[in-house]
Amino acid sequence: MARVRVVRWAWAVLAGLCALATCEVQQQCPPRGEISPCQCSVKKNGLDILCEFTDQQHISNAMGVLKGKSLVIFYLKLRHNNLRKLPGFVFLGLDIRHLTIHNSSLSVVEEASLSSIGKMLTQLDVSQNSLTSVPSAAYKNLHQLLILNMNHNKIGSLHAKAFEGLDTLEILTLYENKITSIDAEAFTGLEKKLKRLNLGGNGLTSVPQKALSILDTLKKLEMQENRLTEIREGDFEGLRNLDSLGLAHNKLTEVPSRVFSHLSLLNSLEMDGNSIVYIDEDAFAGLEENLQYLRLGDNNIHTIPTNALRRLHRLRHLDLRSNNISFIAEDAFAGFGDSITFLNLQKNDIKSLPALAFENLNSLETLNLQNNKLMHIPEEIMEPIVDTLRVVDIMDNPLMCDCELQWYKNWLKSLRDKDDEMMQKKRTVCMMNHEHREYSLQNLPLEKMQCVIKPFESGTSKAVGIKAQSAVGLLLLTYMIY
Ligand SMILES: *[C@@H]1O[C@H](CO)[C@@H](O)[C@H](O)[C@H]1NC(C)=O
Ligand SMILES: *[C@@H]1O[C@H](CO)[C@@H](O)[C@H](O)[C@H]1NC(C)=O
Repeated sequence: MARVRVVRWAWAVLAGLCALATCEVQQQCPPRGEISPCQCSVKKNGLDILCEFTDQQHISNAMGVLKGKSLVIFYLKLRHNNLRKLPGFVFLGLDIRHLTIHNSSLSVVEEASLSSIGKMLTQLDVSQNSLTSVPSAAYKNLHQLLILNMNHNKIGSLHAKAFEGLDTLEILTLYENKITSIDAEAFTGLEKKLKRLNLGGNGLTSVPQKALSILDTLKKLEMQENRLTEIREGDFEGLRNLDSLGLAHNKLTEVPSRVFSHLSLLNSLEMDGNSIVYIDEDAFAGLEENLQYLRLGDNNIHTIPTNALRRLHRLRHLDLRSNNISFIAEDAFAGFGDSITFLNLQKNDIKSLPALAFENLNSLETLNLQNNKLMHIPEEIMEPIVDTLRVVDIMDNPLMCDCELQWYKNWLKSLRDKDDEMMQKKRTVCMMNHEHREYSLQNLPLEKMQCVIKPFESGTSKAVGIKAQSAVGLLLLTYMIY
């Protein structure tokens, strides 16, 4: 007994000294056979222990061996096990920093199973299990927890105070559960630190406004892939620090007036993959100063929602792909276009572009018009933007070969000595009617077509500038294609 005490005391002194001197206590794995089938390796910050394809008995045994050795278990990963129940005190006497219990049929987390490691645990991942509710009693002493991942479980509702006690939690993800209801007090206790909340892939039919309204510090809210049919003014009240809102892949049909008016810091808004037909002209009121990314692809929008967008004078990235836009008004981008660097209009029904369509798009770098019904893209339309553009996609349009398409060849030439291979390789073609054949736009037979050939001017400064930026262009293009 006395010896044990002395050893403990020595450890404590050593640990204390080391903490002061920032040296590390030498961590050592127990002999292999003792914790089998679990495996142990030594990492910079402590031990990394992995137990896979085993059961509760073997895991409890291994934990028993690790107990009382003043070890820091930086990672404890229990995966693909048969661990229906996490029993009380299973981790007693252990110092675990990151705990993962993944794909292990976990459905019961006993109240006393986690409390003993609450002083040290910073990350808890119980994803892909069979939890049907939040095991609040087991969580309530996790006073250091920063990240809680409960993705891919079977949670049907979030009860009042489900996360009470987790007052340091910054990231909570509940992606792909079966949540249809959230109590008004579900998030009580998370209001001081929570920065990211993922409620995606659930069965929500309305925004859980009351529950969310206390989350003063929240920066990112994801509610994609739910069944939201409606969003209303006031739904996001209280989320005054929100930076990013994900509402993609729901069942929204309209974006009503002032619905985001409380989100004055919002930078990114995703509403792609809904059934949006109508966007009120005051839909984006309140977002004037910060909104830069707006995704409205895969909806049923019929025109560029100019009146709603006009107030967004910081907008950089506008994605309207896969809608039903057939007509672009001459003033479609008037008043807000000059901040846009990325414009995606692919997979629409655009048949022609009015003469001044792109006149205001002074900063445009990426333009995607792929898969529309354009037969002509005249030079005068492209002229205002051709100097700033780094990526243009006009593939899959029924283009007719005409002299007006010269701009494309010249524009490509201006990119030629850049490492922008992707753009060079794209095979954009037009149809030469009387020959019944296609030509690549790069190799338009301008002489044969009796075009007035415009000299290609390559300002060196411009070329250098574009070169430096072409990597960004490629990235954007990749993103756009995704
Ligand atoms: C989940 O664990 C079981 C063993 O319990 C394994 O057979 C299965 O492949 C695992 N599933 C995934 C997606 O890893
Ligand atoms: C697209 O819009 C046209 C009218 O502009 C309409 O006739 C057509 O049904 C719409 N398509 C879809 C899929 O809504």
